[in-house]
Amino acid sequence: MDLGISGRRAIVCGSSQGLGKGCALALAEAGVSLVINGRDQTKLEKTADDIRRVADVEVIPVAADVGTAEGQAALLEACAEPDILINNSGGPPFKDFRDLDRAAMIDGVTMNMITPIELIQKVIGPMSAQRFGRIVNITSISVKMPVPGLDLSSGARAGLTSFLAGVARDVAAHNVTINNILPGYFDTERLRQGFAATAKRAETSPDTIAEQWAASVPAKRFGTPEEFGKACAFLCSAHAGYITGQNLLLDGGRYPAAF
Ligand SMILES: NC(=O)c1ccc[n+]([C@@H]2O[C@H](COP(=O)([O-])OP(=O)(O)OC[C@H]3O[C@@H](n4cnc5c(N)ncnc54)[C@H](OP(=O)(O)O)[C@@H]3O)[C@@H](O)[C@H]2O)c1
Repeated sequence: MDLGISGRRAIVCGSSQGLGKGCALALAEAGVSLVINGRDQTKLEKTADDIRRVADVEVIPVAADVGTAEGQAALLEACAEPDILINNSGGPPFKDFRDLDRAAMIDGVTMNMITPIELIQKVIGPMSAQRFGRIVNITSISVKMPVPGLDLSSGARAGLTSFLAGVARDVAAHNVTINNILPGYFDTERLRQGFAATAKRAETSPDTIAEQWAASVPAKRFGTPEEFGKACAFLCSAHAGYITGQNLLLDGGRYPAAF
């Protein structure tokens, strides 16, 4: 399917690996030129080369912490008026909620709620004026169901989701959409951190946890960044203008509910 977005420009935050990279690759394959981002410059440059090898689009790597004002300014300097914004970064560390001090909680809310809102504030005007904009926020299945050790992630992302529910309706008439994708288990570095943290608590091996988690998914496997990226690219497509304010759960059937 031609997604109808060839020639468009995207900022994909947190895209040097994992789900963000999956989104960047799928958008590049659809002909979208990219600003990609991560804090580690070397890793980011390598990802830029990976993308250039598969797609003939401009790829600008911006090594910056997206949670800072300077990082956001650097992203917008590279692409002042993106057509597409993918909000993503790392999640908070796996931690018992009793061990979270105030600074850790503020960091979690800053990264997983305030930062995406700040970026949306900065891009939404031009998107509305040109009557095209696609914003996708990578959140988590933890918005809908508790995940041990990720209470801060759940709370901050639920805050983001509710905040944007109204914003999405506010800009819908301008052909600007705002949607969230909620990953279940995807095979990334972040998931491997989850195996390690859980294995430590359960006094077992990360491989054992990986087997248990995969077995708990009705699809009996973890998702791949590639399939995540394709779903994201569709939400950014010309055809998805009537999908807004939605929470798309990509979890291989793990969340056990009819709705
Ligand atoms: N994988 C899953 O199963 C899963 C499930 C539920 C939710 N999620 C959420 O989905 C998001 C992406 O997960 P993932 O699995 O793709 O994680 P990942 O493999 O750890 O990748 C995170 C990416 O974000 C970048 N990043 C992290 N902090 C950043 C910052 N402050 N500024 C700029 N870039 C930053 C990282 O690069 P640098 O480290 O170089 O900055 C990396 O490119 C996370 O928020 C995670 O919590 C993932």
